[in-house]
Amino acid sequence: MDIARTPSSPDGNTVMADAAPTPHEPPVIRREDYKPFEWLVPEVSLDFDLGLGSTRVVATLSVAPNAKADPSTTIRLNGDGLEPLAVQVDGEIVSDWSMDGYDLIIPLTGEGHELRVTTQISPAANSALMGLFASNGMLCTQCEAEGFRRITFFPDRPDVLSTYRVRMSGLKAHFPVLLSNGNLEAQGEGEDGTHWAEWHDPWPKPSYLFALVAGDLVANSDSFTTMSGREVALNIYVRDGDLPRTGHAMESLKKSMRWDEKVFGREYDLDLFNIVAVSDFNMGAMENKGLNVFNTKYVLADPDTATDGDFDGVEGVIAHEYFHNWSGNRVTCRDWFQLSLKEGFTVLRDQLFSQDMGSEPVKRIEDVRVLRGAQFPEDSGPLAHPIRPDSYREISNFYTATIYNKGAEVIRMMRSMCGEERFRAGTDLYFDRHDGEAATCEDFVKAIEDGAELDLEQFRLWYSQAGTPKVSVRLEHDGDTATLHLSQDVPPTPGQPEKQPMPIPLRIALFDRESGKHDGEQLITLTKAQDSFSFEGFATKPVLSINRGFSAPVVIERDIAQDDLVFLAAHDDDPFARYEALQDLVVGHLKDVIDGNLDDSERDTGRQAIAAAISAVLDDEHIDDLMRGEMLLLPSEGYLAETMLVADPGAIHEARQGLRAYLGTQLEEAWKALHQRASSVPFSHDAEARGARKVKTHALAYLAAGDVDGVQELAWEQYSSADNMTDRQGALMVLCNLDGPERTRALLDFYNRYKDNALVIDKWFSLQSMSLHPNAIEHVKALADHPQFTLKNPNRVRSLYMGFAVNPQAFHDASGEGYRMIADLILQLDPINPQTAARFVTPLGRWRRIEPKRSALMKAELEQIAAAGDLSRDTSEQVSRSLG
Ligand code: PHE
Ligand code: ZN
Repeated sequence: MDIARTPSSPDGNTVMADAAPTPHEPPVIRREDYKPFEWLVPEVSLDFDLGLGSTRVVATLSVAPNAKADPSTTIRLNGDGLEPLAVQVDGEIVSDWSMDGYDLIIPLTGEGHELRVTTQISPAANSALMGLFASNGMLCTQCEAEGFRRITFFPDRPDVLSTYRVRMSGLKAHFPVLLSNGNLEAQGEGEDGTHWAEWHDPWPKPSYLFALVAGDLVANSDSFTTMSGREVALNIYVRDGDLPRTGHAMESLKKSMRWDEKVFGREYDLDLFNIVAVSDFNMGAMENKGLNVFNTKYVLADPDTATDGDFDGVEGVIAHEYFHNWSGNRVTCRDWFQLSLKEGFTVLRDQLFSQDMGSEPVKRIEDVRVLRGAQFPEDSGPLAHPIRPDSYREISNFYTATIYNKGAEVIRMMRSMCGEERFRAGTDLYFDRHDGEAATCEDFVKAIEDGAELDLEQFRLWYSQAGTPKVSVRLEHDGDTATLHLSQDVPPTPGQPEKQPMPIPLRIALFDRESGKHDGEQLITLTKAQDSFSFEGFATKPVLSINRGFSAPVVIERDIAQDDLVFLAAHDDDPFARYEALQDLVVGHLKDVIDGNLDDSERDTGRQAIAAAISAVLDDEHIDDLMRGEMLLLPSEGYLAETMLVADPGAIHEARQGLRAYLGTQLEEAWKALHQRASSVPFSHDAEARGARKVKTHALAYLAAGDVDGVQELAWEQYSSADNMTDRQGALMVLCNLDGPERTRALLDFYNRYKDNALVIDKWFSLQSMSLHPNAIEHVKALADHPQFTLKNPNRVRSLYMGFAVNPQAFHDASGEGYRMIADLILQLDPINPQTAARFVTPLGRWRRIEPKRSALMKAELEQIAAAGDLSRDTSEQVSRSLG
């Protein structure tokens, strides 16, 4: 293709790009203001002249009036920090364009045209990692949500779908591999050591799914035969030395492809599927059509450098991005308010996949823990928003646990209400009806409603109302009738003071205490503010098991005797409900301790009941170690704080640690026996061996909490004899909390062993920042000056500072030092990488729910940030919402 390359500077125009002011309060974008774009852009052709320091882009757009929109005499092409070096309309250079802020406005008559715009960008200077950026000498793009406008001028919105042709050329020595979406159509050698490649993607897509990668990469190559017999070439591209760590990702990819065919009837639609791993990435991974780009963290894994959890993470994220090919790419989003349309649904799909690949109940418990740890606090704090938000200022701030995880829960509820088969009929209809379109959440709900024959009229409230419903539960027994009294309350959230009752599907069972059995599970749906449900044939009062499998993402407040919780913790045949009973038992006890409700003997009685329940879990032969490991985990300090209106992090920490120490000493022999049994299981990836590794470190951690004799030696023994990262990291985590020569010795050994592996060094940073060691704050300060620390790499930043922000003891240090460190980080990081910086506002934003002294310190830090001025849109939005 012959694309004009000479820039010409147009006369009579002021290029505003550099001078454009950053408005202090960025404008609010509203869902209700949606209008279709005035122009269609059926075809795009991009020509890249690649260089790390400078890359030239020539974009050619075919445009035509959109019959479904108002006619217009101009076209607005979004840009972000770009300068138009040349603008052509129908082959002629024009100069009547203008800039509106960063956007390029070109006058156009109301018929089809060809636009051509030349821009020049500096990938090496792009530290925000949005648009085209450099990472370890390679070039890579990230366009979701609004990164394409940092590459070229374009209607950068998801409802403009185009087919893309991409030509790129660059020095062969620097960029031996040249990739983009779709199929490779031609390649060849150029002058002066350059080469070029031309890619074509036949599937129309929005700009956020565009991708380009150029670099010195090697591939793990394989293939997959689809259900209709088409062969798809698969490649996972990594840097040379990383190839041996790509096997698990490849297996995960093939399993995902097969599973999506079998469970959702979705077949892959190109002859090629490429994955590229990059070490500098803001998120986990990105589903660009045919060219997924991944954070190395979710590709690379081998037993020596990755834990069992890391292996699961790779499998889950590979599946997630692959599943987006249908839920996201073939059917995309009309606008960014519909983000949960692709993300909530795709998270549900990856959760169901992982449930099928491993242990279903354990996966469910893990997913609920994530929801409670990240989404519940969001839903009860200043950043609360519905899964389909009504407004935003910076869309990057809405890639949240609410959109993703609560979004998945909402769709999971639909599935529970109609059953798997009808749900599948609903999703089939959805894909069929909206294939090739940019759809809305409403389109999804309607398709499930029609396809699954489910009335979702009232259910739509789950899309519009924020806040986690609280359900109060009381079981009454009279004669032979048990009556369940339920009431719901959806708390007020920012902008939504009043709420309507929502339909809440609850799976329940009523146990006979004598036999330990029930007559089958039922699904009841609470649709009103209050309701009662009667069950006959109970001569004695049954024990209620409710929200089994976590059938609804709500907080259950049950009026239940401690004995009944002990009964359920031992006998419930729903693994989640069993886990939950034990959690509730512990939460109830710890809250009593924190509130000072118990005298010494009452406290001991409570502790003994918990120790007995845990001891029963340790002895239970009917559960496997993976499940046992879940049951042994006490509710986190964050979760405990979430159950209180105003939390005192110091008191929570003390009470929880006190209980751990008690359990450590009280059950010392059992922990030692468990540790020994688990240590004798040889390494493998099967469930038994993974379970053994999980309980092994739990046992060690309890022994350490109890400070029992010889625990340092035992931890060192586990550390030094480990033949896999799960055991080694587990032991190092325990040692990190202690104060002794083994700690230093292990940290030094770990560093020297893995100093060339960035992902493992991330673990080394985060283990220290998450440590219970009394000097954790000082350690984090010292680590910030470590030669391997850099603010330029998001994984490294997160490993040190997210670890620290979720370390309640250190972050909530009464001096306020922890708050100050996070505020300083935000200010330092904001000019480098606003997206990542803004994510650190959340922990400080919890100030309203923290006891007054700390609360004031947290708020003061937020005010300090707000006063700094010149903040990014990302950070300023989060800070003002957090203070508002
Ligand atoms: N769409 C990606 C995913 O969830 C997440 C992402 C968003 C990645 C924005 C990069 C930037 O799969
Ligand atoms: Zn996603």
